[in-house]
Amino acid sequence: MKIVILNAGPRKEGNTSKALQYLLERYKNDDISTFDLVDYDIKHCMGCLNCSKTGECIYNDDMNIIYDAADAAELLIFTTPIYFNSVTSIGKQVIDRFQRNYARRFIIKSSPKADANKKGILLATAGSKEKNHEFDGVRMPVDLMFKANGIREYEIIIIENADKNGIENIF
Ligand SMILES: Cc1cc2nc3c(=O)[nH]c(=O)nc-3n(C[C@H](O)[C@H](O)[C@H](O)COP(=O)(O)O)c2cc1C
Repeated sequence: MKIVILNAGPRKEGNTSKALQYLLERYKNDDISTFDLVDYDIKHCMGCLNCSKTGECIYNDDMNIIYDAADAAELLIFTTPIYFNSVTSIGKQVIDRFQRNYARRFIIKSSPKADANKKGILLATAGSKEKNHEFDGVRMPVDLMFKANGIREYEIIIIENADKNGIENIF
């Protein structure tokens, strides 16, 4: 299976990366490509809505690498530490640029809405415990990002209290 990891965490040795290593024990025999989003030159979406008309983004930057990878993925894994109850700013920047794929699926309809062969996983770590839906700020944008990429079936793994408890034997 082709697995693509979009890592929105800036700390490559942090809790999120450690959690990912445990998660990947499930996929020892699969073809895995990891993209540390912090290393890519990806511009902010400026809301020009060119993609709503043409299905193309006006920018020619490293997001093209991420589009190709997401297209090829049979399992798309999005990893992020929780920042201010949401994804990191790097992660949000990439999610916003997936508007191009949202437009293709739901506005100009040049791509099928859903791809049954594609699945997703959201893996997030948080310093605190969730008490009252605080982490919906991660779940909701990632839900729409998966839908923009044709993914309807996905797993959510949120590891709470990661700073205090550490990331050991979590799965
Ligand atoms: C800028 C910033 C904002 C954060 N905001 C939250 C938050 O809203 N809720 C929470 O539980 N933890 C928050 N944390 C803690 C991180 O989510 C937690 O330490 C996470 O496991 C860090 O992952 P990493 O080691 O992979 O970077 C925040 C940390 C930073 C640096």
